[in-house]
Amino acid sequence: MSRTSEILSIKYPLMMAPMFLVSNVQMLKIAMDEGVLGAIPSLNFLNDDALDRALFELKTYSINKHGSFAVNLIIKNNKKYETHLSLIVKHKVPIVITSLGDPSELIEKVQGYGGKVLCDVTNVKHAEKAKLADGFVAVGQGAGGHAGPISLQVLLPALRRAFPNKLILGAGGVATKAAYKSVIALGADGVSAGTVFIATKESEVDQAYKDAIIKAKASDITLTKILSGTPSTVIRSGYLETLEQQLKDQKLSLERGIELLNNKGIDADYKRLFVAGQAVEFVDGESSVSEVIKSLVL
Ligand SMILES: Cc1cc2nc3c(=O)[nH]c(=O)nc-3n(C[C@H](O)[C@H](O)[C@H](O)COP(=O)(O)O)c2cc1C
Repeated sequence: MSRTSEILSIKYPLMMAPMFLVSNVQMLKIAMDEGVLGAIPSLNFLNDDALDRALFELKTYSINKHGSFAVNLIIKNNKKYETHLSLIVKHKVPIVITSLGDPSELIEKVQGYGGKVLCDVTNVKHAEKAKLADGFVAVGQGAGGHAGPISLQVLLPALRRAFPNKLILGAGGVATKAAYKSVIALGADGVSAGTVFIATKESEVDQAYKDAIIKAKASDITLTKILSGTPSTVIRSGYLETLEQQLKDQKLSLERGIELLNNKGIDADYKRLFVAGQAVEFVDGESSVSEVIKSLVL
């Protein structure tokens, strides 16, 4: 049995990556039907009750499926960390993906009920600090969200050399079967893909966001600190330029720019900034979650 099927209980070694404000329960159910791992950030739910109910629903749905589900918990600067971790433990979420921060406490609690933990890493040093985890998601250059600076051609073999027996998923730029296969060829046990799922029928983002994804090319992706302070990839737009100019005019820092502009009474809306990775290059129309999964794994 492969490391991916054994540790993650899935048929095909693919994770539909957790995406803030994009992933939803329906998308995860389809991922489970298709035999892959569906992941969702805990912060995508309006309140603790909604998260509690969704975890129950997903856990029930996962019984007898060839796929499974994961919850992404941000550790650093997350006011909801304690509450969300206790709900994850309550529902014995099978897989937890951590990003930003020290995962030691979380690893102990999740492994305590038999769950598995994968930590997002962007370099080998980062991974050494999380070596008690069951595995890593290696986030490389070109990925959507908080992309790493190192290409997967370097990051994956480096991680594999340092951790010959760990489960490693590769993330960043996968929208085609060739890219999917290349990640496996580089030494990963599986693949994590996010951007390619944004313009699907089941994703409930605004049509303007889907249209922007379909229209954008890899060269339209840029990095901004404006959303959260940590550089994140977005589709370059007139709106982004206007906001950045307003910040300059007001002599405000780019970090947490939207919050600062709102505090000044200037209407800035993060929902009009479209987070995406370079994989937009290959998204040419709206499809379904199931079609995207099949196009990668079959
Ligand atoms: C719109 C969007 C939102 C994201 N939100 C999160 C998040 O909340 N937590 C997280 O760990 N990663 C987040 N990511 C990163 C993904 O989990 C994943 O690493 C990335 O999408 C892989 O690269 P790809 O987009 O090129 O497939 C996000 C990515 C995108 C595109």
